[in-house]
Amino acid sequence: MKDRITARVLQTHSPALFQEAVEEAARILRAGDLVAVPTETVYGLAANALDPSAVSRIFTVKGRPAHNPLIVHVSDVQMARRCVSSWPALADRLAAAFWPGPLTLVLPRSPLIPDVVTAGGSTVGVRLPSHPFIRTLIQACGFPLAAPSANRSNELSPTNAIHVERSLGLAIPLIVDGGQSQVGIESTVLDLTLETPRVLRPGMIHEESLVAVVGNLASGAADPESPLKSPGLLLKHYAPKARLMVCRWSSEAELEALLLKIWPTSPRGVSIIAHSQVPLSGRFDQVAVIPNDPDAFARAIYSELHRCDDAGAELIVVEDVPQTPPWRAIRDRLARASG
Ligand code: TXA
Ligand code: MG
Repeated sequence: MKDRITARVLQTHSPALFQEAVEEAARILRAGDLVAVPTETVYGLAANALDPSAVSRIFTVKGRPAHNPLIVHVSDVQMARRCVSSWPALADRLAAAFWPGPLTLVLPRSPLIPDVVTAGGSTVGVRLPSHPFIRTLIQACGFPLAAPSANRSNELSPTNAIHVERSLGLAIPLIVDGGQSQVGIESTVLDLTLETPRVLRPGMIHEESLVAVVGNLASGAADPESPLKSPGLLLKHYAPKARLMVCRWSSEAELEALLLKIWPTSPRGVSIIAHSQVPLSGRFDQVAVIPNDPDAFARAIYSELHRCDDAGAELIVVEDVPQTPPWRAIRDRLARASG
C-alpha cells in the first residue's frame, strides 16, 4: 500500500524545512495544483482561490457536491476586504477580537471571487487562520487560498498529516506536515449578511464569546435541513466509518448493561471514548480517555475517531459531554457523527 502513495510529505519542524515547504507549496499553488496544508482547526486542501480551474480540482478530488461553498483563507484583513464587496464595522470588531483564529465570516462576495468558490452564491466565507504555516504560505503566494477540510467528502476531517495521506495521498502532489491541529474541530461559521448575525456552524469560538462583540445573535444554529444556506450543516457529515453512539453511564456496570442492550453480540469491536466514567476492567477492546475539558476534548476527538476506524472498530461509544456553551460545537460534531 505504502508504495502506491504519491503525495510528497514535507516537514516543517526547523526554520529551513519550514521555508522549503513554503516555497514548494507556493510553487505548486501558483501552477494551479492543490496542496494539503495544516491549519489550527483541521488540515485544509488548498487551491488559489482566484483560479477557477484550480478550485474546481478541489471538488473533483474530494468528491464534493458543487453546491457546497468553500472558505477563503487570507493572511491579513486587507486581503479579506478584497474578497468581499462590503466590510461592515462589525467585521472589523470581530477580526480584532478573534483573528487570526477559528472564525469564518460570511459576507457579500466581491467580483474577484470566482463562482466555483461560492457555489454560485452571493456570499463568501473568509477566515484568517492562526497556524503560522498557512499564513506564511498565503503571504508568499500573494493570493487567498480556498480550502475545505482535506478529506474526501463525508469523511472525518483530518487533524494530522497521516490522516490526510490516508484519505487523499493518491490524489494530490503535496502534503505539508505542520503537526497536530491545535483546535481540532472546524471553525465557527458566522453569517454577517443578515440583519442579526447567525452562527451557521458552531465551533470553539462559541456564541457567548461572539455575543460579547456582536451584541445580538440570532438564537440557535441554522436549520440543518436548509442545505442552500450552509450545505456543510447537512447531517451525516464528519462521520467515522464505524457506527457511533453517544451515551451516559455512571458506572462500568451500567455501561456494560447498556451495551448488552445496544450491542448484544459481544464487546469485541467496541471502542469506548470516555472523559469521566472511565471503564477500567479491561473488558473492552479499546478505551481512550480524553480530559474532561472542552479545548482538550476538541483537540483529541477526531484523532481518536480516526484511530477507532483504523483499529477496525464496529461501534464507537462516546461518553456524553456537558450541555454548557463551551461544549456546544463538540456536541454538534458528535451528533452529526452519530446521525
Ligand atoms: O476550520 C475550517 O473552517 C476548515 C479549515 C481548513 O479552515 N475548513 C472547513 O471547510 O471546515 P469545509 O469546506 O469542510 O467547511 C466549510 C463550511 C461548510 O459547512 C460550508 O457550507 C460553509 O462552511 N460555508 C462556506 N462558505 C459559505 C457561505 N458563503 N455561506 C454559508 N456557508 C458557507
Ligand atoms: Mg469538511
